[in-house]
Amino acid sequence: MAVILKLTPATENIFKNAILSGDLVAFPTETVFGLGANIFDERALEKIFEAKGRPKSDPLIVHIVSLEGIEKIIDIKSDVKCSFDVLSNKFWPGPLTLVVNASENLSRIVTAGGDYVGLRMPSNIIARNFLKNVGVPLAAPSANRFGHVSPTNAQHVYDDLGDYPGLLILDPPQQEPCDVGFESTVAKIMDNGDIVILRQGAIGSIEIQKALREKKLKNNVTLNSLKNKETNNTHITDSPGQMLTHYSPMIESFVISKVSFDEKDLLKNTFDKQDLKACVVIDFQREFIGLKKFVLRYVDLSPEGNIMEAGRNLFSCLRTAENVKDAKYILMTGLYPHDDELKSALFDRIYRAASGKCAQISFLSE
Ligand code: TXA
Ligand code: MG
Repeated sequence: MAVILKLTPATENIFKNAILSGDLVAFPTETVFGLGANIFDERALEKIFEAKGRPKSDPLIVHIVSLEGIEKIIDIKSDVKCSFDVLSNKFWPGPLTLVVNASENLSRIVTAGGDYVGLRMPSNIIARNFLKNVGVPLAAPSANRFGHVSPTNAQHVYDDLGDYPGLLILDPPQQEPCDVGFESTVAKIMDNGDIVILRQGAIGSIEIQKALREKKLKNNVTLNSLKNKETNNTHITDSPGQMLTHYSPMIESFVISKVSFDEKDLLKNTFDKQDLKACVVIDFQREFIGLKKFVLRYVDLSPEGNIMEAGRNLFSCLRTAENVKDAKYILMTGLYPHDDELKSALFDRIYRAASGKCAQISFLSE
């Protein structure tokens, strides 16, 4: 069984020893909880895939606390170096993962057999102290069961991975430590220094572009997210983890909108007043407040319309929603219009949580 252990000065070394003796430790970052293993211990790396039920074809992100010793992890070619230096200087520590060429010495379990590795320097103070204390970089995917909603507190991790032997879950003094609340932006630096965003996160493509231009770099920044949204459960070659069905609650979920969906090949579903009795609604800025009296449970990610607050609340609302007694469906705001990048990063999670399924409310679309 896994154990949740409070972080105190007295327990600090228990977490360190667990990592150094080859066990897994789940720890908070500013995005979500990671399931950490020593990158130099292949058996420990294998445990990550076992514990999560994750396919070995899905590479792991390496977490570091400083740039010292990164030549053991990455092999930066000269054309890539400028972009890497600008982006790591500007956005680290913080919620940006840079995918670059892996060092020959890095275990291919981390890279899923490929020659690229995702590297990230988290800003969360507990993650940083933990990394400093263990003294080795940690490979860490989100600490959830594969395909389920990412965890933003210690109990979430336990709910998913509590059965895994030897797993230690670091419970921080602060109840909700994940200030961003959803996973990092994953940006691949191509061989010519151009950037492809494989997963949207709190750091947007416009900011990345701006950082490059400030340093007179002319490299292009393009978005890859949701490009393959119709390819359910098919691995995408350049970002294997980005499948349509992801972040999925345990009950059927839909994106709802007051406007008609124009994407003709989306499955359409209509909910009437009777159906709503079995629904949990996850709203933003009170758009669907009118449904409150018809549904089993109504929650708002941010009644005031603060998108950062919505990001912090999204995963924990999804987990609450799937556990509401007698709930059969979750209906989620589509966060329309997508007038900023944070909204589209969050919509990316919502859309995947719904496996791309959209629904209309009969009496709202009349
Ligand atoms: O915020 C985060 O990034 C969290 C925290 C714990 O750091 N980690 C996280 O890891 O979300 P994970 O494994 O759940 O998601 C990482 C994503 C996956 O979609 C994976 O396929 C992609 O990043 N990725 C990792 N390494 C890659 C690589 N070498 N090439 C392409 N995609 C990569
Ligand atoms: Mg994940």
